[in-house]
Amino acid sequence: MSHKIEFIYLSEPDTIKLGITDAPAWVDVCEEVFGLLAKGDYLMGGPNHNSHGMGIIFPKESPFPNMPVAGPDRRFFAMPAYLGGRFDVCGNKWYGSNAANTAKGLPRSILTVLINDKDTGAPLCHMSANILSAVRTGAIPAVATRHLGRKDSEVCAVVGCGPINKSCFRHIITQAPNVKKVITYDLFLDKAQAFADWAKAEYGLEGVATTELPEALKDADLVSVAASRLKPLHIESSWIKKGALVMLTGPAKGDDDLWTKSKIVYDNIKLHEAYVEEAYASGDVAGYYAGVIGGPIYTLIDAGKLPKLEDSTDIGNVILGNKPGRTSDDETIIFVACGMAVFDVACGYELYQRALKQGVGQKLLLWDEPYLK
Ligand SMILES: NC(=O)c1ccc[n+]([C@@H]2O[C@H](COP(=O)([O-])OP(=O)(O)OC[C@H]3O[C@@H](n4cnc5c(N)ncnc54)[C@H](O)[C@@H]3O)[C@@H](O)[C@H]2O)c1
Repeated sequence: MSHKIEFIYLSEPDTIKLGITDAPAWVDVCEEVFGLLAKGDYLMGGPNHNSHGMGIIFPKESPFPNMPVAGPDRRFFAMPAYLGGRFDVCGNKWYGSNAANTAKGLPRSILTVLINDKDTGAPLCHMSANILSAVRTGAIPAVATRHLGRKDSEVCAVVGCGPINKSCFRHIITQAPNVKKVITYDLFLDKAQAFADWAKAEYGLEGVATTELPEALKDADLVSVAASRLKPLHIESSWIKKGALVMLTGPAKGDDDLWTKSKIVYDNIKLHEAYVEEAYASGDVAGYYAGVIGGPIYTLIDAGKLPKLEDSTDIGNVILGNKPGRTSDDETIIFVACGMAVFDVACGYELYQRALKQGVGQKLLLWDEPYLK
């Protein structure tokens, strides 16, 4: 019996050839994953099966001249998962991020995804994943728009005008056919203006750029938040239009009313429970909370001002019809999405299947016969 193992390598152009930029398809894939999350047919890292991932934390200084030291957005991160259903594979997203990359003309982070056989561990497909990761991140608020947004939503606000929010918008717009206007907000007017110009050119929408957050939010039915941590983002509840859907893909703070007077819908309650567990294990709860998207919410839960996570709503159960989603047009909903390896595995597996069918990618040999047995 042959023990030869080959796997497929997909470059970024290969992933484009296989349709990674075809936005609506990935919204469907991510919706399917939310159903599996709600059923529990998945595993992520750590003993609680729900860790976001494991990173290398760089020290502030080091006696070793070659050792990387801490810097803006500088980290290495591994995000492993098993995903069930029709996927039934293991995989890992592995990336390095360093804000200094941009001065070299490179993206801030460089990402790859590896899909493995769940039994043998053999690699099946290794791929360039910068687009994949942005796509799965953008498709997630689009699933929220599909299930939690008001159907008559006409105005979309974009808070933070980087590549991640561009991906969010590209996917959200596929689920919001009545949107006519986009209001773009960034610390830098040129970035907000470039986003508004792109949305006008790409989708024929009215585009308005601003550096005033209340102005950006006041008429918005859909709000996509994906700003970086350059400057803390603070949202007052009074700036939000009644009935809006606010989708947090990046961090935001707010007054207590922002969280307590809205309905909060989570991407996966167990992930947030794992974050809280990790915060308490770290010995610096406040410091840990400050670094994660759900931090302001966990603080209010700990203070008894918001329902416990276990009593809250996750979008998977809304999709499966087990929990109510939007109950009225006046309800303001905040959707919190932190990013999970299961989505990278799902999109990676989908690309792998397409590569097999279409003969795209490069076959690489692991071995003809393993040297060590
Ligand atoms: N949830 C997920 O799965 C997921 C995945 C990837 C990235 N992210 C997050 O998405 C966010 C955006 O990522 P990116 O790669 O596009 O970042 P980026 O740095 O390329 O762009 C972010 C933009 O936000 C702007 N910004 C920063 N602080 C702001 C503020 N206070 N007000 C207004 N604008 C502000 C910056 O000027 C910049 O234009 C980051 O917070 C990142 O961590 C989340």
